[in-house]
Amino acid sequence: MSDTRATILVTGGCGYIGTHTIVCLLQKDYDVVVADNLSNSSIVSLDRVAEIVGLSEHDRASRLVFHQVDICDEAAFRKVFESSPRFESCIHFAGLKAVGESTKKPLLYYDNNLSGTFVLLRMMDEFQCHSLVFSSSATVYGAAENMPITEDTPVGAGITNAYGRTKYMIEEILRDFYQSQTLEESTTDWSITILRYFNPVGSHPSGKIGEDPNGIPNNLMPYVAQVAIGRREHLTVFGSDYNTADGTGVRDYLHVMDLADGHLAAMDYMKQKKSGIFTFNLGTGNGYSVLDMVKAMGKACGHEIKYVVGNRRQGDIATCFADANLAKNEMGWVASRDLDEMCRDLWCWQTQNPNGFAGQPCESQ
Ligand code: NAD
Ligand code: WQD
Repeated sequence: MSDTRATILVTGGCGYIGTHTIVCLLQKDYDVVVADNLSNSSIVSLDRVAEIVGLSEHDRASRLVFHQVDICDEAAFRKVFESSPRFESCIHFAGLKAVGESTKKPLLYYDNNLSGTFVLLRMMDEFQCHSLVFSSSATVYGAAENMPITEDTPVGAGITNAYGRTKYMIEEILRDFYQSQTLEESTTDWSITILRYFNPVGSHPSGKIGEDPNGIPNNLMPYVAQVAIGRREHLTVFGSDYNTADGTGVRDYLHVMDLADGHLAAMDYMKQKKSGIFTFNLGTGNGYSVLDMVKAMGKACGHEIKYVVGNRRQGDIATCFADANLAKNEMGWVASRDLDEMCRDLWCWQTQNPNGFAGQPCESQ
């Protein structure tokens, strides 16, 4: 850690979005402390981050510090705060995110995602870090009726799973918490940004880091990538009878590097605003269907992606895409990478790491 560089705490920093964001943080000259229990990630991911950024062993020891810790464990997490310089900001990715699993194990999801946030807020308060970026999700909008979805679209109703409700509940908790900080004094120095991600896909263009799902992927693009590389026979398209142009579900896919940039934009915005609680959609504003994505990935990998049409998946909605103008107008953030770039970079990650981080080290490839 340096006397001149600011240090950012990244919870869940070994995961998919966390690693991409840490690349951006290090490249913008921040020091990073990662707190992750590795429940859904591999420590190899941070080795790859160091490779991408070109950190020497020496720099790595000081600029990218890792603590294997469950953030719900207050005593253990306190040690992270005690042993670090004061954090300028915290980006809070840590959470469980598998929609289907959350339906089977709701208590695990409420416990992990909510408790982790409670402990984090207590620690931040105690150790005087008053700037927080929270990973929320478009899932909080439930089955919104009007597209595109603005930040004013009602949230909470129509969420079909416990995972989505943890995001909604944490947003509400953050609002209550922020309000509580303004009660005693007329001003507060707390700033909180809630980022509602739409559908992040792709990987860093180096192909050294990317999404590494456990077992059978739940999400569309990791599944499509595994079909493309021959790990799976075919994709099952979940329904072709939706009220959309080609009958398949429409989503707002955004490149994970654009999403990563959004976190730095949020930190800059909070610095400029000094205090407040802010909510932004992060998406491209474009909707693409399942078949559009299959076609785009076929183009990136140079051969057709086999698919069969199956039944609708329970809880799915027909269409979901963002109005991302607020993030553009307020933070100056736009998602600039297109579908071809998303698929090209996903393919780069998939071909270099057919078995994810469990495969060979990337440096030798
Ligand atoms: P991920 O699973 O790859 O990363 C989350 C990380 O948090 C993992 O490394 C995991 O080990 C860690 N973690 C979980 N519980 C923890 C705990 N109690 N203590 C310490 N570490 C813990 O997920 P991701 O795709 O990188 O998502 C990051 C965040 O963004 C999550 O909160 C997720 O809900 C949210 N989000 C993701 C998407 C998406 O499509 N990927 C969309 C919207 C929101
Ligand atoms: C996209 C489209 C499917 C898989 C989920 C979570 C959401 C957020 C992002 C965290 C849909 C179709 C999918 C497959 C398919 N995560 N599909 N065959 O459902 O928009 O959002 O991930 O916050 O909370 O719900 O993304 O990638 O699962 O699906 O046809 O094998 O692809 O029906 O239309 P979704 P997804």
